[in-house]
Amino acid sequence: MIKLAILASGSGSNAEKIMAHFQGSTKAEIALIASNKADAFVLERAKKFGVPTFTFSRKEMDAGVLLAKLQEEQIDWVILAGFLLKIPEALIRAFPNRMVNIHPALLPNYGGKGMYGHHVHEAVKAAGDTETGITIHLVNEHYDEGKIIFQAATPVTPEDTPDTIAAKVHALEHRYFPEVIESLVGTSTSSVTDVG
Ligand code: GRF
Repeated sequence: MIKLAILASGSGSNAEKIMAHFQGSTKAEIALIASNKADAFVLERAKKFGVPTFTFSRKEMDAGVLLAKLQEEQIDWVILAGFLLKIPEALIRAFPNRMVNIHPALLPNYGGKGMYGHHVHEAVKAAGDTETGITIHLVNEHYDEGKIIFQAATPVTPEDTPDTIAAKVHALEHRYFPEVIESLVGTSTSSVTDVG
């Protein structure tokens, strides 16, 4: 069994789609949901699926507590799904090409410092872009610069607001993230082909 851990700081709608996708799989399981926020809704979602949870502070993560937990649980892959803290280098090095993030824009556009959550969609709206999308990428020491695994785009119309853009992006995330993970961790016979 391939063991996946999901790191999330907030609502966890992506985490929920991933847990649902792998429920009943004989090849991979979501073995842990870890969050830096003790009141994050993702923890409720985990309970619903009977997935163990782990919470930690930024200080503890920087001191290696999260890494120790992931190693103790023999986690093979780390999935970042709306995780807002900068990952310590030691943690990244412990999962070489085994850590994946989803970014709610078409990288390299709208990546880097300050570009998270609503800030991304507001920037897309302010720039008058005609499309946006999602990027699923491996994580290296330079957060949003790891190898791109998958991208999908959606049109942005003049009528769109940051909220409607966010909804379109979320729909893409929910549709693609679970199956891209499945393909990536090698539990699927078909590989995802529409890498943009
Ligand atoms: C997603 O848009 C993801 O791309 C971003 O954070 C958001 C998390 O949403 N990094 P949710 O918590 O999965 O609903």
